[in-house]
Amino acid sequence: NKTANQMLVIFGASGDLTARKLVPALYNLYKGKHLPDNFVVLGLSRSNLTDNTFRKRVVLESPYLKEALKGENQDFVDAFANQFFYEDLGDDYDVSYGKVNTRISDLDTKFGTGGNYMFYLATPPNLYETIAKNVSEQGLSDESSGFRRLIVEKPFGYNLKTAKNLNKGLHQYFNESQIYRIDHYLGKETVQNLLVTRFANSIFEPLWNRNYIQHVEITNAESVGVEKRGGYYDKSGALRDMFQSHLLQIVSLVVMEPPINASAEEIRNEKVKALKSLRIMHDEKTLYDNTIRGQYLASVIDGEKVKGYREEDGVDPNSKTETYAAIKFFVDNWRWADVPFYVRTAKRMPTKVTEVVVHFKTPHHQVFNDVDINNMDNKLIIRIQPDEGIMIKFGVKVPGQGFKVERANMDFYYSSLVDNHIMQAYERLLLDAMQGDATLYARADEVEAAWEFVDPILDYWENNKGVKTYGYSAGVWGPKNSDTLLEGNYTWRNPGE
Ligand code: BG6
Repeated sequence: NKTANQMLVIFGASGDLTARKLVPALYNLYKGKHLPDNFVVLGLSRSNLTDNTFRKRVVLESPYLKEALKGENQDFVDAFANQFFYEDLGDDYDVSYGKVNTRISDLDTKFGTGGNYMFYLATPPNLYETIAKNVSEQGLSDESSGFRRLIVEKPFGYNLKTAKNLNKGLHQYFNESQIYRIDHYLGKETVQNLLVTRFANSIFEPLWNRNYIQHVEITNAESVGVEKRGGYYDKSGALRDMFQSHLLQIVSLVVMEPPINASAEEIRNEKVKALKSLRIMHDEKTLYDNTIRGQYLASVIDGEKVKGYREEDGVDPNSKTETYAAIKFFVDNWRWADVPFYVRTAKRMPTKVTEVVVHFKTPHHQVFNDVDINNMDNKLIIRIQPDEGIMIKFGVKVPGQGFKVERANMDFYYSSLVDNHIMQAYERLLLDAMQGDATLYARADEVEAAWEFVDPILDYWENNKGVKTYGYSAGVWGPKNSDTLLEGNYTWRNPGE
């Protein structure tokens, strides 16, 4: 695909996201020759920077590019850096757009970016609408002389109401087809591969339903704590930070019906249908029985003292905000009726891993004795990160007398492919947006459907004083009672154990 000449205008250009994610992604695209011939980046923020100091900050002296730039030809690096420009927005994100407009038009004329502009909102979310309004008032959302796209970072809303308001607000200034809501999990190769596993094979899909699947389990674990983001995190929590966005995106790809083709609209139509079929939990008893929240406690990991969540900077010492969330739910449709889904996400777990485990039912008649269902049910494990790959667990006969059955694995690892360069999520997503492909971006109705499911849980956790936040020592797989969520004798599969 050829990428049209264009300008990337980043709001919040002096912030962490720009330096940490966006510019390294752009650099990889530059190296891979994916950027168009005529391309510039215009950084905007309240910091007082010049073109040169901006280039130093995000490219030439950026700690996030240090590794990548080591040993590179200086002319090559300079040519990349020279595509970056900067304009100071002054104190307020609600003024100064006249000069932004002038700068954009000067750069466009000088560098031949064809009037194609992509606006990236890497600012705090409370500024999204203000920026969209000002951009539009300058005539910059009008597509009569080039494409105009708006990329919006997560979090998209704080709950259903605010997400709806934000959609409404943005739609005053940009059409839905111009808006790209980023969810970086959709940029992960293995998340996209969920679609291929399901719909480019004939051996999985016939079994992908309530007749053969016992339950589905999704684990997202991080070994880090909240790091320097205590202030943000304490107002968010795991349910908003990870579950509403990244994990429900994964759920929608596991649950959805086959799309009629791979176009952005068809795939997203099916995802919305999937999200709308999640059974919303209304009453307190259901919420009590099906949700668990937890918080990490101080601990010693590998001889090093680790702070508890409530001692982290920016966190209220009496905080009830969850760093662990585990939710059991059902999907009310023909395919999934009565199949439990268990999804958990947490910080300060023993390791960093994200995986989907599809547990198939045990054979309905046991011919062989001594079968331990926790070990012997067939499992399809889709490893999203790290060690990206797929594994099937199945029973084999132990050589020797009798019919002793043991578990064996069939593995595929992405690293075993000859061409195994996996594009980073931001790299892939930026390139898609530059080419106008919104397949891996969340649509308005998708985000709202996800909030619709999450809202009652948030409400129950936040407004019901009786709801416990269970403590767990940093470095273990969550609170002690977390297995109580699973039906029967099942327990969570803890990867690596
Ligand atoms: C972000 C969350 O969206 O995703 C972070 O805000 C989290 O809290 C991160 O650490 C995890 O992303 P990844 O790609 O490292 O799994």
